[in-house]
Amino acid sequence: MKYFYSLLFPILFVSVLLVACDSESPVAVEPIPVFSTSELAGGETTVFDASSHAFSTPAPNLSEAALSKHLEGDVEFEAVFVTAPAVINPGLGPIYNNVSCINCHSRDGRGRPPDPDEGLVSLLFRLSLPNPEDAIDGKPPIPVPGFGTQLNNRAIVNASPEGKVKITYTEQTLTTADGTRVHLRYPDYTLTETYQPLPEEVEVSPRVAPVVFGLGLLEAIPEDVILAYADETDANGDGISGKPNYVWDVVQQRYNLGRFGWKANQPSLQQQVAAAYHDDIGITTSLFMTENSAGQPQLTNHNAKPEVSDEILDVVTFYVQTLAVPARRNVDDPQVKQGEQLFAEAQCANCHVPTFRTGVLTGVPSVSNQTIHPYTDMLLHDMGPGLADNRPDFHASGSEWRTPPLWGIGLVRTVNGHTNFLHDGRARDLMEAILWHGGEAEASRKAVEQMSKAERDALIAFLESL
Ligand code: HEC
Ligand code: HEC
Repeated sequence: MKYFYSLLFPILFVSVLLVACDSESPVAVEPIPVFSTSELAGGETTVFDASSHAFSTPAPNLSEAALSKHLEGDVEFEAVFVTAPAVINPGLGPIYNNVSCINCHSRDGRGRPPDPDEGLVSLLFRLSLPNPEDAIDGKPPIPVPGFGTQLNNRAIVNASPEGKVKITYTEQTLTTADGTRVHLRYPDYTLTETYQPLPEEVEVSPRVAPVVFGLGLLEAIPEDVILAYADETDANGDGISGKPNYVWDVVQQRYNLGRFGWKANQPSLQQQVAAAYHDDIGITTSLFMTENSAGQPQLTNHNAKPEVSDEILDVVTFYVQTLAVPARRNVDDPQVKQGEQLFAEAQCANCHVPTFRTGVLTGVPSVSNQTIHPYTDMLLHDMGPGLADNRPDFHASGSEWRTPPLWGIGLVRTVNGHTNFLHDGRARDLMEAILWHGGEAEASRKAVEQMSKAERDALIAFLESL
């Protein structure tokens, strides 16, 4: 009987959401389960490892065959590409940002902006020209002639890097209600040493490499469940809308729900991985056959055959689908519990949605039918002018970003040795990241500004437990 109930509960939970989204008028999804005392952040894919390997462990529920596929993907994720012709991993560039996946997603974790005097490593810049039609139909970004949609700051011999970026920060001080002063650094980006002039009106979007664990679970959340949280017209009047992105799916040749990237600009992990090979390393796959330097007065060592095979694309996709989610820590600590309460009261959970039940992801049973605690709604939100990049991406406006998952955020320091957060890594700790929240999250930020020091400490203790 007990077994029967545990099976039935998730089915009931999902069907409530489905009914909600079928009905005519927009309804709030209710009730959002805002509390989770479960340590099992990734369901059966959770790993109890709070060491520097916390993000790079295979899901413990993989079959033997699946584990060996995952490990093949791991090797390719770490593969260092070199200039063709070479026996191993040829095809780098001609222009690129880095030579391997792992160089940006260090320990499967997150990147950061460069230190002063350091070149760009794991922060990249997307480019485009203004698109007058953005607001109406969510068109893809318009490539900049001679540059495409991403600045490649490195190049192989005989080719020129597209340019460099100079980053400067201006400090601003914010004072909370109890008189605590917090310093925020406001970044300014200047593109320099471009190999040919950039048009004045170029739009620039800085993006730091996000963590890559738990992503198969996010891919397995049924689309209608995500859409049930969307509230574009803010019908429930909580000041928070939430809007799906719809982006071009090159395999299905249609617009599909965007899930990955800081603006939900990629529809699937397969396409995200193929785009990473193409845009970041200059490696072609069957999805993106044209070199990223195409259309440029640059050397293009174009091959008829993809530089990375479908088999490799498949194992790398599987690898990022099946990395384990680290377990939560200190869930019963009274301070953590108080912080969780404050997280709900400040409406953080309206965007950083704690709990989902995944559906079935074909070919990846370990992430299917799992109860997970990612703290994201996978939707776009207007975060105000402070965080705006002013570069629309399909339906995402210049000030909209996808709610990033917060699972594992308390382990970034241990894994990556830094605490730089937000899309461009401008925040130097979790509190700075919160105090940058504006737009739809304005009320949340104000609530945090009104908290006592003990309450803010509790909120951070909760985030550190994720
Ligand atoms: C130059 C640094 C860099 C390299 C190299 C790189 N990435 Fe990324 N990766 C990023 C950035 C930046 C993003 C966010 C992109 C965006 O928002 O558009 C990202 C996003 C992703 C995501 C989506 C994560 C999420 O939560 O939405 C995956 C998966 C991913 N990369 C996998 C890979 C793989 C696989 C490779 C190697 C083939 C790779 N990356 C190479 C910087 C890099
Ligand atoms: C309206 C939706 C919304 C609300 C409400 C909201 N957030 Fe966020 N949060 C976001 C988005 C979107 C980002 C990414 C912004 C960016 O990178 O520019 C973000 C980023 C973050 C980050 C940094 C994550 C990372 O990977 O860099 C933290 C930490 C965070 N939020 C915590 C909170 C807390 C705590 C609250 C409540 C006080 C809160 N958020 C309320 C949408 C929201």
